[in-house]
Amino acid sequence: MASTDRKVANGEDNAVFSLRRERGLASSYLYLFQEFWCPGIAIEGVKSFQKCFQAKHGDVVVASFPKTGTTWLIALTFATVNRQHFSAENHPLLTSNPHTLVSCLEFKIFCDDIHDPVLHLSNMIEPRLFSTHTPFTSLPKSLTESNAKIIYICRNPFDTFVSAWTYFNKIRSTMSLPALELEEAFEMYCNGVVSFGPWWSHMLGFWKESLVRPKKVMFLKYEDLMENVNFHVKKIAEFLGCPFTAEEESDGVIESIIKLCSFEKMKDLEVNISGKLDKIIDNKLFFRKGEIGDWINYFSPSLIQKLSKIIEEKLDGSSLSF
Ligand code: A3P
Repeated sequence: MASTDRKVANGEDNAVFSLRRERGLASSYLYLFQEFWCPGIAIEGVKSFQKCFQAKHGDVVVASFPKTGTTWLIALTFATVNRQHFSAENHPLLTSNPHTLVSCLEFKIFCDDIHDPVLHLSNMIEPRLFSTHTPFTSLPKSLTESNAKIIYICRNPFDTFVSAWTYFNKIRSTMSLPALELEEAFEMYCNGVVSFGPWWSHMLGFWKESLVRPKKVMFLKYEDLMENVNFHVKKIAEFLGCPFTAEEESDGVIESIIKLCSFEKMKDLEVNISGKLDKIIDNKLFFRKGEIGDWINYFSPSLIQKLSKIIEEKLDGSSLSF
Protein backbone atom coordinates (compact mmCIF):
# COMPACT_ATOMS: atom_id res chain seq x y z
CA MET A 1 0.00 0.00 0.00
CA ALA A 2 1.38 3.45 -0.91
CA SER A 3 2.38 5.66 2.03
CA THR A 4 -0.51 8.13 1.65
CA ASP A 5 -3.06 5.35 1.25
CA ARG A 6 -1.64 3.67 4.35
CA LYS A 7 -1.78 6.88 6.37
CA VAL A 8 -5.34 7.40 5.25
CA ALA A 9 -6.28 3.83 6.17
CA ASN A 10 -4.73 4.30 9.61
CA GLY A 11 -6.40 7.67 10.06
CA GLU A 12 -2.94 9.26 10.48
CA ASP A 13 -3.30 11.99 7.91
CA ASN A 14 -6.50 13.92 8.53
CA ALA A 15 -5.73 16.54 5.90
CA VAL A 16 -5.53 13.89 3.18
CA PHE A 17 -8.44 11.96 4.69
CA SER A 18 -10.71 14.93 3.99
CA LEU A 19 -9.81 15.00 0.30
CA ARG A 20 -12.12 13.50 -2.27
CA ARG A 21 -10.57 10.39 -3.76
CA GLU A 22 -11.22 8.23 -6.80
CA ARG A 23 -9.73 5.16 -8.39
CA GLY A 24 -7.54 6.14 -11.35
CA LEU A 25 -5.74 4.26 -14.10
CA ALA A 26 -2.87 3.38 -11.78
CA SER A 27 -3.08 1.19 -8.70
CA SER A 28 -3.13 3.82 -5.96
CA TYR A 29 -5.96 6.26 -5.28
CA LEU A 30 -6.04 9.72 -6.82
CA TYR A 31 -6.84 12.56 -4.41
CA LEU A 32 -8.38 15.85 -5.47
CA PHE A 33 -5.64 18.10 -4.13
CA GLN A 34 -5.35 21.78 -5.07
CA GLU A 35 -7.82 21.17 -7.90
CA PHE A 36 -5.85 18.36 -9.54
CA TRP A 37 -5.95 14.59 -9.21
CA CYS A 38 -2.79 13.78 -7.33
CA PRO A 39 -1.61 10.17 -6.95
CA GLY A 40 -1.56 9.22 -3.27
CA ILE A 41 2.15 8.42 -3.48
CA ALA A 42 2.93 11.96 -4.70
CA ILE A 43 0.96 14.14 -2.26
CA GLU A 44 3.69 14.43 0.35
CA GLY A 45 6.25 15.01 -2.42
CA VAL A 46 4.21 17.82 -3.98
CA LYS A 47 3.73 19.45 -0.58
CA SER A 48 7.46 19.35 0.25
CA PHE A 49 8.34 20.54 -3.25
CA GLN A 50 6.03 23.53 -2.70
CA LYS A 51 7.40 24.24 0.75
CA CYS A 52 11.13 23.62 0.40
CA PHE A 53 12.20 24.11 -3.21
CA GLN A 54 14.50 27.10 -3.71
CA ALA A 55 15.07 27.83 -7.38
CA LYS A 56 18.54 28.84 -8.54
CA HIS A 57 19.55 30.94 -11.49
CA GLY A 58 19.96 28.59 -14.44
CA ASP A 59 17.62 25.85 -13.20
CA VAL A 60 15.74 24.03 -15.95
CA VAL A 61 12.50 22.14 -15.31
CA VAL A 62 10.98 19.80 -17.89
CA ALA A 63 7.25 19.80 -17.16
CA SER A 64 4.65 17.51 -18.66
CA PHE A 65 1.42 15.65 -18.28
CA PRO A 66 2.29 11.93 -17.96
CA LYS A 67 2.73 9.97 -21.21
CA THR A 68 3.16 12.97 -23.47
CA GLY A 69 6.87 12.55 -24.31
CA THR A 70 8.55 13.45 -21.02
CA THR A 71 11.32 10.87 -21.43
CA TRP A 72 12.22 12.15 -24.90
CA LEU A 73 12.23 15.82 -23.88
CA ILE A 74 14.29 15.08 -20.77
CA ALA A 75 16.87 13.27 -22.91
CA LEU A 76 17.03 16.06 -25.51
CA THR A 77 17.32 18.74 -22.82
CA PHE A 78 19.98 16.84 -20.87
CA ALA A 79 22.03 16.19 -24.01
CA THR A 80 21.71 19.81 -25.19
CA VAL A 81 22.61 21.42 -21.88
CA ASN A 82 25.53 19.06 -21.21
CA ARG A 83 26.88 18.83 -24.77
CA GLN A 84 30.29 20.25 -23.80
CA HIS A 85 30.82 17.57 -21.17
CA PHE A 86 30.15 14.30 -22.97
CA SER A 87 31.05 12.74 -26.29
CA ALA A 88 28.45 10.82 -28.29
CA GLU A 89 30.40 7.56 -27.79
CA ASN A 90 30.68 7.87 -24.04
CA HIS A 91 27.43 9.54 -23.11
CA PRO A 92 25.53 8.93 -19.84
CA LEU A 93 22.33 8.51 -21.86
CA LEU A 94 23.84 5.32 -23.30
CA THR A 95 24.00 3.70 -19.88
CA SER A 96 21.31 5.49 -17.83
CA ASN A 97 17.61 5.99 -18.37
CA PRO A 98 16.79 9.72 -18.82
CA HIS A 99 14.66 9.69 -15.64
CA THR A 100 17.71 8.61 -13.64
CA LEU A 101 19.75 11.53 -14.96
CA VAL A 102 16.99 14.11 -14.48
CA SER A 103 15.03 13.49 -11.30
CA CYS A 104 11.36 14.19 -10.83
CA LEU A 105 10.80 16.80 -8.12
CA GLU A 106 7.66 15.35 -6.52
CA PHE A 107 8.34 11.64 -7.10
CA LYS A 108 12.04 11.47 -6.38
CA ILE A 109 13.67 14.53 -4.83
CA PHE A 110 10.92 15.43 -2.39
CA CYS A 111 9.63 11.89 -1.90
CA ASP A 112 10.90 9.53 0.77
CA ASP A 113 13.79 8.47 -1.51
CA ILE A 114 16.17 11.30 -0.65
CA HIS A 115 16.94 11.74 3.02
CA ASP A 116 17.73 15.48 2.96
CA PRO A 117 16.34 16.98 -0.28
CA VAL A 118 17.52 20.52 0.49
CA LEU A 119 21.10 19.37 1.03
CA HIS A 120 20.88 17.13 -2.05
CA LEU A 121 19.68 20.09 -4.14
CA SER A 122 22.37 22.42 -2.87
CA ASN A 123 25.04 19.85 -3.84
CA MET A 124 23.80 19.35 -7.40
CA ILE A 125 26.02 20.36 -10.31
CA GLU A 126 24.69 23.44 -12.11
CA PRO A 127 22.76 24.05 -14.23
CA ARG A 128 20.35 21.81 -12.34
CA LEU A 129 17.85 19.85 -14.43
CA PHE A 130 14.59 18.51 -13.03
CA SER A 131 11.30 17.12 -14.22
CA THR A 132 7.81 17.55 -12.83
CA HIS A 133 4.20 16.59 -13.52
CA THR A 134 2.86 19.16 -11.04
CA PRO A 135 0.38 21.54 -12.71
CA PHE A 136 1.56 25.12 -13.25
CA THR A 137 -0.82 26.55 -10.66
CA SER A 138 0.64 24.26 -7.98
CA LEU A 139 4.31 24.97 -8.69
CA PRO A 140 6.16 26.73 -5.87
CA LYS A 141 6.52 30.49 -6.18
CA SER A 142 10.27 30.11 -5.89
CA LEU A 143 10.17 28.38 -9.27
CA THR A 144 7.51 30.44 -11.03
CA GLU A 145 8.87 33.79 -9.83
CA SER A 146 12.56 33.05 -10.39
CA ASN A 147 14.28 33.18 -13.76
CA ALA A 148 14.50 29.37 -13.85
CA LYS A 149 13.26 28.04 -17.19
CA ILE A 150 10.38 25.66 -17.77
CA ILE A 151 10.00 23.55 -20.92
CA TYR A 152 6.61 21.92 -21.25
CA ILE A 153 5.59 19.12 -23.58
CA CYS A 154 2.04 18.14 -24.42
CA ARG A 155 0.57 15.66 -26.86
CA ASN A 156 -2.57 14.95 -28.80
CA PRO A 157 -5.06 13.75 -26.12
CA PHE A 158 -6.00 10.67 -28.21
CA ASP A 159 -2.44 9.34 -28.28
CA THR A 160 -1.86 10.41 -24.66
CA PHE A 161 -4.84 8.31 -23.59
CA VAL A 162 -3.69 5.18 -25.42
CA SER A 163 -0.16 5.60 -24.10
CA ALA A 164 -1.44 6.05 -20.52
CA TRP A 165 -3.92 3.19 -20.69
CA THR A 166 -1.39 0.69 -22.03
CA TYR A 167 1.34 1.91 -19.63
CA PHE A 168 -0.80 1.73 -16.49
CA ASN A 169 -2.17 -1.68 -17.45
CA LYS A 170 1.42 -2.96 -17.65
CA ILE A 171 2.13 -1.45 -14.22
CA ARG A 172 -1.04 -3.09 -12.91
CA SER A 173 -0.01 -6.47 -14.28
CA THR A 174 3.36 -6.25 -12.50
CA MET A 175 1.31 -5.84 -9.30
CA SER A 176 -0.99 -8.72 -10.21
CA LEU A 177 -3.93 -6.33 -10.57
CA PRO A 178 -6.50 -6.91 -13.31
CA ALA A 179 -6.17 -4.76 -16.43
CA LEU A 180 -8.65 -1.93 -16.95
CA GLU A 181 -10.91 -2.28 -19.97
CA LEU A 182 -10.43 0.48 -22.52
CA GLU A 183 -13.97 1.83 -21.99
CA GLU A 184 -13.51 2.02 -18.22
CA ALA A 185 -10.20 3.85 -18.51
CA PHE A 186 -11.62 6.13 -21.21
CA GLU A 187 -14.45 7.20 -18.89
CA MET A 188 -11.90 8.19 -16.21
CA TYR A 189 -9.84 10.05 -18.80
CA CYS A 190 -12.87 11.94 -20.13
CA ASN A 191 -13.76 12.95 -16.56
CA GLY A 192 -10.21 14.20 -16.07
CA VAL A 193 -9.65 11.63 -13.31
CA VAL A 194 -6.11 10.65 -14.26
CA SER A 195 -2.80 11.33 -12.51
CA PHE A 196 -2.18 15.12 -12.46
CA GLY A 197 -5.41 15.64 -14.42
CA PRO A 198 -7.61 17.00 -15.65
CA TRP A 199 -5.32 16.92 -18.67
CA TRP A 200 -6.98 19.96 -20.23
CA SER A 201 -6.32 22.16 -17.16
CA HIS A 202 -2.74 20.86 -17.04
CA MET A 203 -1.91 21.86 -20.60
CA LEU A 204 -3.87 25.11 -20.45
CA GLY A 205 -2.00 26.21 -17.31
CA PHE A 206 1.36 25.97 -19.06
CA TRP A 207 -0.03 27.16 -22.41
CA LYS A 208 -1.37 30.41 -20.94
CA GLU A 209 1.86 31.07 -19.07
CA SER A 210 3.91 30.44 -22.22
CA LEU A 211 1.89 33.13 -24.00
CA VAL A 212 2.32 35.65 -21.19
CA ARG A 213 5.96 34.83 -20.40
CA PRO A 214 7.54 33.18 -23.45
CA LYS A 215 11.03 33.60 -21.98
CA LYS A 216 9.96 31.69 -18.88
CA VAL A 217 7.86 28.85 -20.32
CA MET A 218 8.52 27.12 -23.62
CA PHE A 219 5.54 25.12 -24.85
CA LEU A 220 6.15 22.15 -27.13
CA LYS A 221 3.97 19.53 -28.76
CA TYR A 222 5.13 15.93 -29.23
CA GLU A 223 3.79 16.04 -32.78
CA ASP A 224 5.78 19.19 -33.67
CA LEU A 225 8.92 17.67 -32.20
CA MET A 226 8.39 14.57 -34.35
CA GLU A 227 7.82 16.64 -37.46
CA ASN A 228 11.00 18.70 -37.15
CA VAL A 229 13.15 17.75 -34.19
CA ASN A 230 16.18 19.62 -35.53
CA PHE A 231 14.31 22.94 -35.54
CA HIS A 232 13.00 22.39 -31.99
CA VAL A 233 16.32 21.28 -30.52
CA LYS A 234 17.79 24.55 -31.79
CA LYS A 235 14.87 26.44 -30.24
CA ILE A 236 15.39 24.63 -26.92
CA ALA A 237 19.07 25.59 -26.89
CA GLU A 238 18.22 29.23 -27.66
CA PHE A 239 15.50 29.28 -25.01
CA LEU A 240 17.95 27.93 -22.42
CA GLY A 241 20.53 30.54 -23.35
CA CYS A 242 23.00 28.07 -24.87
CA PRO A 243 22.43 28.35 -28.64
CA PHE A 244 24.39 26.10 -30.97
CA THR A 245 27.30 27.86 -32.65
CA ALA A 246 27.72 27.77 -36.42
CA GLU A 247 30.67 25.46 -35.83
CA GLU A 248 28.61 23.06 -33.73
CA GLU A 249 25.94 23.03 -36.42
CA SER A 250 28.41 22.26 -39.17
CA ASP A 251 30.09 19.61 -37.01
CA GLY A 252 26.76 17.77 -36.75
CA VAL A 253 26.34 18.25 -32.98
CA ILE A 254 22.57 18.71 -33.31
CA GLU A 255 22.19 15.57 -35.42
CA SER A 256 24.19 13.52 -32.94
CA ILE A 257 21.96 14.69 -30.05
CA ILE A 258 18.85 13.82 -32.06
CA LYS A 259 20.23 10.37 -32.91
CA LEU A 260 21.27 9.67 -29.32
CA CYS A 261 17.78 10.60 -28.04
CA SER A 262 15.79 8.93 -30.79
CA PHE A 263 13.18 6.33 -29.90
CA GLU A 264 14.97 3.67 -31.97
CA LYS A 265 18.29 4.26 -30.25
CA MET A 266 16.98 4.58 -26.70
CA LYS A 267 14.61 1.62 -26.71
CA ASP A 268 17.38 -0.78 -27.77
CA LEU A 269 19.88 0.25 -25.09
CA GLU A 270 20.57 -2.47 -22.54
CA VAL A 271 19.65 -0.12 -19.66
CA ASN A 272 16.25 0.50 -21.23
CA ILE A 273 15.64 -3.17 -22.01
CA SER A 274 16.48 -4.70 -18.66
CA GLY A 275 16.98 -1.81 -16.21
CA LYS A 276 14.53 -0.50 -13.64
CA LEU A 277 13.79 3.02 -12.44
CA ASP A 278 14.24 3.22 -8.67
CA LYS A 279 14.19 -0.61 -8.58
CA ILE A 280 10.44 -0.48 -9.29
CA ILE A 281 9.43 0.50 -12.83
CA ASP A 282 10.85 -1.40 -15.81
CA ASN A 283 12.61 1.18 -18.00
CA LYS A 284 11.22 -0.56 -21.08
CA LEU A 285 7.74 0.68 -20.15
CA PHE A 286 8.81 4.22 -21.13
CA PHE A 287 9.31 3.06 -24.72
CA ARG A 288 6.29 1.57 -26.46
CA LYS A 289 5.73 2.67 -30.08
CA GLY A 290 6.82 6.31 -30.19
CA GLU A 291 4.39 7.10 -33.01
CA ILE A 292 1.78 9.69 -33.87
CA GLY A 293 -1.74 8.42 -34.51
CA ASP A 294 -1.60 4.95 -32.96
CA TRP A 295 -4.92 5.84 -31.26
CA ILE A 296 -6.76 5.03 -34.50
CA ASN A 297 -6.20 1.33 -33.74
CA TYR A 298 -8.13 1.60 -30.48
CA PHE A 299 -10.95 4.13 -30.86
CA SER A 300 -14.48 3.35 -32.05
CA PRO A 301 -16.40 6.13 -33.88
CA SER A 302 -18.39 6.94 -30.73
CA LEU A 303 -15.25 7.30 -28.60
CA ILE A 304 -13.68 9.54 -31.27
CA GLN A 305 -16.78 11.70 -31.22
CA LYS A 306 -16.85 11.93 -27.45
CA LEU A 307 -13.18 12.86 -26.99
CA SER A 308 -13.23 15.30 -29.95
CA LYS A 309 -16.14 17.12 -28.32
CA ILE A 310 -14.36 17.33 -24.96
CA ILE A 311 -11.19 18.67 -26.59
CA GLU A 312 -13.21 21.26 -28.50
CA GLU A 313 -15.14 22.38 -25.40
CA LYS A 314 -12.22 22.46 -23.00
CA LEU A 315 -9.77 24.22 -25.31
CA ASP A 316 -12.36 26.60 -26.72
CA GLY A 317 -11.07 30.18 -26.85
CA SER A 318 -7.58 29.20 -25.73
CA SER A 319 -5.93 29.27 -29.19
CA LEU A 320 -4.46 25.83 -28.33
CA SER A 321 -5.52 23.10 -30.73
CA PHE A 322 -4.62 19.61 -31.89
P1 A3P B 1 3.65 5.59 -26.82
O1 A3P B 1 3.07 4.88 -25.64
O2 A3P B 1 2.57 6.21 -27.67
O3 A3P B 1 4.59 4.79 -27.62
P2 A3P B 1 6.41 9.73 -21.21
O4 A3P B 1 7.86 9.78 -21.48
O5 A3P B 1 5.81 11.08 -20.90
O6 A3P B 1 6.06 8.67 -20.25
O7 A3P B 1 5.71 9.36 -22.60
C1 A3P B 1 5.83 8.06 -23.13
C2 A3P B 1 5.55 8.10 -24.61
O8 A3P B 1 6.66 8.69 -25.29
C3 A3P B 1 5.40 6.71 -25.15
O9 A3P B 1 4.49 6.83 -26.25
C4 A3P B 1 6.82 6.40 -25.62
O10 A3P B 1 6.91 5.37 -26.55
C5 A3P B 1 7.22 7.74 -26.21
N1 A3P B 1 8.67 7.93 -26.25
C6 A3P B 1 9.59 7.56 -25.32
N2 A3P B 1 10.82 7.90 -25.73
C7 A3P B 1 10.70 8.49 -26.92
C8 A3P B 1 11.63 9.02 -27.87
N3 A3P B 1 12.94 9.02 -27.62
N4 A3P B 1 11.15 9.55 -29.01
C9 A3P B 1 9.82 9.56 -29.27
N5 A3P B 1 8.88 9.05 -28.44
C10 A3P B 1 9.31 8.52 -27.27
